[in-house]
Amino acid sequence: MMIRILPEILSNQIAAGEVVQRPASVVKELVENSIDARATSITIEVVKGGKSLIRVSDNGVGLCRDDALLSIERYATSKIFTKEDLFSISTFGFRGEALPSIASVSKFSLVTRTKDTDIGTKIDIIGGKIRNVSDAGAPVGTMVEVKSLFFNTPARKKFLKSDNTETSHIADAVSGLALGNSHIQFRLFLNNKLQKSFSSSDDLFQRSVRVLGRDVADRLYNFKFSDEFIHVHGVCANPSVTRSTSSKIFLFVNNRLVYDRGLISAMFQGYKGRIMKKKSPLGVVFIDIAFDQVDVNVHPSKREIKFFNGQQVYKAVANTISNTLLREQQNMTAYSKAQAIPEEKFEYLDKTFKPDPIDRVEQSSIVWPASPVEDRKNFIQDHTLQKSPPNVTHNNSKLKTQNSRVTFRLQLSVIGQIMGTYILAQGEDGLILIDQHAAHERIVYEKLKQRYHSLKAQSQTLAVPETLELNFRQSDLLSNMLEDLKTLGMIIEPFGDTTFVVKAVPAIIDEKEIKPIILEILEATLIKKDGFSKEQWLENSLILVACHGAIRANLNLSRVEIEKLVFDLEQCENPRHCPHGRPIMISWTKNQIEKLFKRVV
Ligand SMILES: Nc1ncnc2c1ncn2[C@@H]1O[C@H](COP(=O)(O)OP(=O)(O)OP(=O)(O)O)[C@@H](O)[C@H]1O
Ligand SMILES: [Mg+2]
Repeated sequence: MMIRILPEILSNQIAAGEVVQRPASVVKELVENSIDARATSITIEVVKGGKSLIRVSDNGVGLCRDDALLSIERYATSKIFTKEDLFSISTFGFRGEALPSIASVSKFSLVTRTKDTDIGTKIDIIGGKIRNVSDAGAPVGTMVEVKSLFFNTPARKKFLKSDNTETSHIADAVSGLALGNSHIQFRLFLNNKLQKSFSSSDDLFQRSVRVLGRDVADRLYNFKFSDEFIHVHGVCANPSVTRSTSSKIFLFVNNRLVYDRGLISAMFQGYKGRIMKKKSPLGVVFIDIAFDQVDVNVHPSKREIKFFNGQQVYKAVANTISNTLLREQQNMTAYSKAQAIPEEKFEYLDKTFKPDPIDRVEQSSIVWPASPVEDRKNFIQDHTLQKSPPNVTHNNSKLKTQNSRVTFRLQLSVIGQIMGTYILAQGEDGLILIDQHAAHERIVYEKLKQRYHSLKAQSQTLAVPETLELNFRQSDLLSNMLEDLKTLGMIIEPFGDTTFVVKAVPAIIDEKEIKPIILEILEATLIKKDGFSKEQWLENSLILVACHGAIRANLNLSRVEIEKLVFDLEQCENPRHCPHGRPIMISWTKNQIEKLFKRVV
């Protein structure tokens, strides 16, 4: 056997296999080079999804002839000099691999000029072989043209998708690069037509609206967080706007557009409880972190990175997002004009005054029918929920915060119940419908969760213990859960083999429901392939218990019950979405109603 050094063109082609996966990766590499060259204006032209032409021109610093010739040599880079530099990479490029790789699988030409000479340089390369080097008239800056991509690697060419698909990947790449560099002008021409144009006067907010979609225009929130470890800033969309994939989540680490699963889940974590399953939020997140805290050299396409302290980064992102949504809750249209008031303002003027919440009903001009419905031990007597008298001042219904979090003042006046299912109310600027089941689910869920964290689940001992006959897998699982279930108020003991007895149930749920709940908890855990973490499992159980414990739709409520429900909802941390992520309320502003009646146009 003989060891041989690979011919250069071949090794470039192999590198290209990793660097240049599709036309969009060529666009990304070329645009990043332009940004590194300090361009302020970059034009991208694409024909047939980039298969026949990709041309990127910039007004950056350009290259002199010697450097231009070097730039197409493998490992030639102006950007890193020592091994230590690899750890403090602030330019996009650092491998000196992109241009030779691209040139090895296309018909490539580079035209470039620096401000120090009047005449530029043109280099033509076909399939990695230099065909021509000549003088060329050119403006200061660089233009790279890539024609017939993969013409000499047919197998790779075959893997390209339709022109439209490749085009949309290119458009996404340009959007991402434009978001990360809002001071630079970008223009994208598709088949000779100007498709996107981002002006250099844009700020991040404006660019985000253009990239994320019109429907986020007035529903995008700025966020910012900073400590000695990390800076996080960006924008995120109102949870009422979602997409079915995470393609509208743009992540930047030290200004580099990256893909990182952990960061994506941190984003989802921030939206938790506010969006439906299988839906994805939208947003742009910038993370600035010390260069030695992140490794960008883990993948040839440089899109993947590795944090040295991932958990700390993810936590910062998730918390920043969720705090922002909490803060912005007041602006979310469906939630009307609720105002966040910091805790210290929630002091009673008269500390001895503890009015009944029902007083508030008097503000409504509607006369209520008395409700004949009895037997709501789960609801109005609410013996399982906090018994402390509601903290309401007499007229302006200010709420005292129970924890250190902010509370919202909804100023809802309840009108009544419709269809036995929805509560109709008037908010400060419109009409609101509340889904009573979803609302109660949220209330029960939050109370259980609070209770869980303070380890004071209240349970109700069963007069006749229920027995559970399980199969082997179920019983195996349950044996490991008994301690945790106890903290939820479920007292279950083994009774030999695969039999268990339920001695007590969470006070919030009817004893008849305990069997189906336990079975559902076990099923959900068994179905999940890689199992639930303890946290997920608990969350799931809380949601199930809340769902079973919540009042149903199609149940007439008395006015007192409705008032109590709305009152409790107002105190929830997230009064807009039920624990499954469905909306609790929908609303129409005066303006929307007037439009419907054609009073205004
Ligand atoms: N648009 C441009 N304007 C000015 N110089 C450029 C431009 N594009 C490339 N260069 C020069 O050519 C060199 C090689 O570019 P190439 O993209 O191959 O490598 P790189 O950017 O250094 O690293 P990477 O392979 O990680 O992208 C760069 O280091 C830079 O000096
Ligand atoms: Mg580069």
